[in-house]
Amino acid sequence: MIGTTANGAQALQDPDLSWVEQVTPEQLMHPQEIVARLREQAPLAWVPAAAAYLATSWAVCHEIANDPENFESLAIPWHERVYRHPAIINSEGEVHAHLRRALGTPVSARAIRSQIESRMRPTAKALIQKLRDQERAELMADYFEPISVRCVADSYGFFDVPTDTLRRWFHSIKTGAINTATNEDGSFANPAGFDAADQTREEIRSYLELRSKDDPDEPDSVVARWLNAETADGVRWSIDYILPSMLVVLFGGLQEPGHALGNTFLGLTTAPEQLQRTIADRTLLPRAIAEGLRWTAPLYGGPTRSAKRDLVYHGVPLKKGDVVRLVYGSANHDSTEFEHPDRYDIDRASHAHLAFGEGRHSCLGSAISPQIARVALEELFSAFPHIALDPHKPAVSTGWPFHGPAQLHVILDETNR
Ligand code: HEM
Repeated sequence: MIGTTANGAQALQDPDLSWVEQVTPEQLMHPQEIVARLREQAPLAWVPAAAAYLATSWAVCHEIANDPENFESLAIPWHERVYRHPAIINSEGEVHAHLRRALGTPVSARAIRSQIESRMRPTAKALIQKLRDQERAELMADYFEPISVRCVADSYGFFDVPTDTLRRWFHSIKTGAINTATNEDGSFANPAGFDAADQTREEIRSYLELRSKDDPDEPDSVVARWLNAETADGVRWSIDYILPSMLVVLFGGLQEPGHALGNTFLGLTTAPEQLQRTIADRTLLPRAIAEGLRWTAPLYGGPTRSAKRDLVYHGVPLKKGDVVRLVYGSANHDSTEFEHPDRYDIDRASHAHLAFGEGRHSCLGSAISPQIARVALEELFSAFPHIALDPHKPAVSTGWPFHGPAQLHVILDETNR
């Protein structure tokens, strides 16, 4: 059978894409082999298990991300359902530009400069202190997730929300964000799958309402000042206006630096000599983290665009409204861009990666995330220079569209065993 698209047209690039029809959502949780075949055969192809066209090559991802004439970020049903409107990832034009300025300012390179030593490092040191008496740790739960959520939340002024609550928030929003399965009529196959995310949305709304009443002159009243401020454009915040985008940040933003840390750590363990070199020379960490982001993109296949009109793109007929997922995790393994792309290699020639996307919807956390990761690994390697994966509990990065190790069991000081 010839590969067919959502609108019934034939995919033009490949004579036989019948295997794509057989791909299951479970197989997509380990997407590497699937996207490698697609990159070779049909870098823009309808994949039923993803309920979307997948863009898997560097060139197609790059072009679509930078093509506002033909593609937009509107009307993705599961985004609308979880976040509501106007979420930054589902907006375009003036509203999008305004949300970007407002949400981007607290996490800009300039804004976070002073937080690196004053907030991030003490957070890292406090978490490391708790690990000191332990022989082993599960790094995701014990260190990478807590430091990730704490640092991002603090930069938005959520100082009083306990770290475990922040982790619960993003895990619960996630249950809604991955509940994408639909019936043939387009309705959601599992409506109850949104309940936990809905409850969390209301909990976050109540929290923002409470904090908006803080005294704006109090030093820690970032949230109140932020919610009550009038922006340069004369637009005043309302909680309904900011909540959808805040959910995007509280979900992806809180989670993804943790995944970036997990993926970087795993990458380093595939190349023990590079791990040793990085532990001995921490100035290598920015390279190690950038390579970790390239090697396994934490938002592997998540970002979506929809076609603004009927068009034929890279030989594939698309109908207005067809959804394309930009599989940046695959683009980062495109052999036309990277030599031996499947290898984790901190010595590879310098080359930008697409883990933060690009274009007008590129990630707002691209400045803060590598800094969180750098400080976290500096403190980890300084405290435990002989850290090693627990050989009895192998770790693996999985997930679609988010990708990272669910658990990362380590022996903290291998020399003592
Ligand atoms: C290593 C960590 C992270 C990775 C890999 C990551 C990755 C991404 C990617 C791939 C996109 C979509 C780009 C596109 O559509 O082309 C994105 C969007 C976004 N990210 Fe991140 N992210 C990370 C951390 C963060 C953090 C810490 C924040 C918040 C402070 C954040 C906030 C956002 C927002 C608000 C958007 C939507 C931007 C828009 O639609 O205009 N991200 N991120």
